[in-house]
Amino acid sequence: MNKCTTLLMLLLTVSLWSQQADTLNQTQKMNWFKDAKLGIFIHWGLYAVNGIDESWSFYNGYISHEDYLKQTAGFTAKAYDPEAWVDLIAESGAKYSVITSKHHDGFALWNTRYGNLNAIENSAAKKDVLSPFVKALREHKLKVGIYYSLPDWSYPDYTNFTRDSLRYKITEEPQRWETFLNHYQGQLGELSKQYKPDLWWFDGDWEHNAEEWQATKVKAMLLEDNPQTIINSRLANQGDYATPEQGMPIVRPKDTYWELCMTLNNSWGYQPNDTNYKTTNQVIGIFADVIGNGGNLLLDIGPKSDGSIPEEQESILKDLERWTDKHAEAIYGTRAGIPKEHFYGPSTLNKERNILYLFVKGNPNGEVVVRGLKNKINRIYVVGEGTKLDHQVVGKVYWSQYPGITYIKVPDYVLDEHMTVLALLLDGEVDLYREEGAVIESN
Ligand code: GLC
Repeated sequence: MNKCTTLLMLLLTVSLWSQQADTLNQTQKMNWFKDAKLGIFIHWGLYAVNGIDESWSFYNGYISHEDYLKQTAGFTAKAYDPEAWVDLIAESGAKYSVITSKHHDGFALWNTRYGNLNAIENSAAKKDVLSPFVKALREHKLKVGIYYSLPDWSYPDYTNFTRDSLRYKITEEPQRWETFLNHYQGQLGELSKQYKPDLWWFDGDWEHNAEEWQATKVKAMLLEDNPQTIINSRLANQGDYATPEQGMPIVRPKDTYWELCMTLNNSWGYQPNDTNYKTTNQVIGIFADVIGNGGNLLLDIGPKSDGSIPEEQESILKDLERWTDKHAEAIYGTRAGIPKEHFYGPSTLNKERNILYLFVKGNPNGEVVVRGLKNKINRIYVVGEGTKLDHQVVGKVYWSQYPGITYIKVPDYVLDEHMTVLALLLDGEVDLYREEGAVIESN
């Protein structure tokens, strides 16, 4: 080997090492997120006063900007009890929470030095309402997520104002854009230093490209403050995980890390006129689908302008408490389950992949069916209830690998009122028969 080749080999090895180290760091950093499964999203801002669309109501012209801002007079936060919020969040089984520090309307919940559109200088509350919440989350050992809207439609030096009015174009007034960049990056600096978020939830990147937002620089700045911080995908795709919104993905997402954000009714913020609440059954069904496909659910609540949480929302979180508590072992720290062909429902696996959890909706009329499971099942029990269940394997062909169909007898009295979970202790890592099934011909 000549010197040149040796050097090349060395360089290649070093770069391979550093790539492996990067992947390892990434996996470690994402660990808590992957295990957390449930987060609570909070949209709290001026829009809760009139009970209208967050920011979009003036952007879309349903109300003038001037009238929209008049809501500052009604944002009292007088019943705001951050500890009670966090108790409710923790009890629901969520392991993290993401709160709107500033939505597209530019109203900031914390004591920012950048601009005066904030809860202290420009609302009836006259106080920083973000810090006490972050503090309470930390005290409860919950992870802290900060939602931050890149667009700020109220800021006089931001490009977009409403749907049909643009203040300026960056190419025509680059200086003005610089002013905005300083403003928003200054705010991010404040949030990053004051709260050291575990997670950044950016939004609204669609209005400009990565270069215009200076996304790489922003990411580097946040990582410098906290190398372990997680960033969602909405910083012009610079982030760590995907954020499908409202619609539960039909096909399992390819992303290693993803989080479905979803409202409890049809609105992100408090809108008393929107009574289209999902039932607890639906929420739990969607949650099981999400974790069965390896994702997290970020479930949104919209507190009122006085800081109280609407009853309907509170009651769903309380129902979740009972269910997540009972089924904790099938939820937290698990991984996506087996493909639908094997079990017609959501499932998860423990990290060692030798316990399979089956989520059974409604009454299976006596039997739950699993197809093509090659493992021997050592034991089956009802999670959180304890009853051991029998099973029967039918259709196993002795002269082929085809493992047959497993029927598990589930008596009515073990059924959970929302969703029953069965734990199947396998004789080793889950092993599935994935042949096309032309058993006779292929043997
Ligand atoms: C959308 C909306 C915004 C909402 C967000 C939550 O991007 O612009 O109003 O806060 O979704 O995911």
